[in-house]
Amino acid sequence: MTSEGRWITLEGGDGSGKTTQAELLAEWLGARGRTVLRTREPGGSEVGTLIRDIVLHHRGEIAPRAEALLYAADRAHHVATVVRPAIERGEVVIQDRYLDSSVAYQGAGRVLDATEVRDLSLWAAEGALPDLTVLLDIDPLVARRRLDAADKPFDRLEAEKEEFHARVRESYLGLAAAEPRRFLVVDATRDPEDIATLIRARVAVDL
Ligand code: TYD
Repeated sequence: MTSEGRWITLEGGDGSGKTTQAELLAEWLGARGRTVLRTREPGGSEVGTLIRDIVLHHRGEIAPRAEALLYAADRAHHVATVVRPAIERGEVVIQDRYLDSSVAYQGAGRVLDATEVRDLSLWAAEGALPDLTVLLDIDPLVARRRLDAADKPFDRLEAEKEEFHARVRESYLGLAAAEPRRFLVVDATRDPEDIATLIRARVAVDL
């Protein structure tokens, strides 16, 4: 394994188990002597925390373009002040959600054009793309049941209708098919330890 900085993002619908897998991977890399930075979007920086509060908790409509710009603003600041510096220090950045979330949720899920949303994010992040993106793929109905079981209060987006989540899933799968070298697609209904093993195998090859 190299000692160079690396960047791994996790994507998937709400309730797909991204956070669990991010934690397991961080632990595994830490045990191998790597310095790991765990972060997320939206909200991986101080400014981002404020933006996160708007996009997830604002009551009432946010115009689709304004919403896309808010996620892009969070991303621009996060990449510039948190992600890039950590990679330059030689750390492994493990991040919940990145621009694929914008394409899937704002692009396919909403009224905006997916390519425009992606271009906006790429502009915001000065073209930065992760070394590896793990897509935890799950039927949104199964994910919904998991979230219900966890009994967490819904945020604004989690309350969107099932049809929306089905479109998000399709969009993610399309993104992964278009960039097979960057993506690892894993069936998120598998046992969490099995999923962790698959991710480790890929990381061990790539990093
Ligand atoms: P979060 O509480 O981080 O949820 P999760 O555990 O599902 O990751 O909420 C993030 C929400 O924001 C999630 O519903 C997806 C949405 N989102 C977008 O719509 N666009 C984006 O660019 C990002 C990063 C997130």
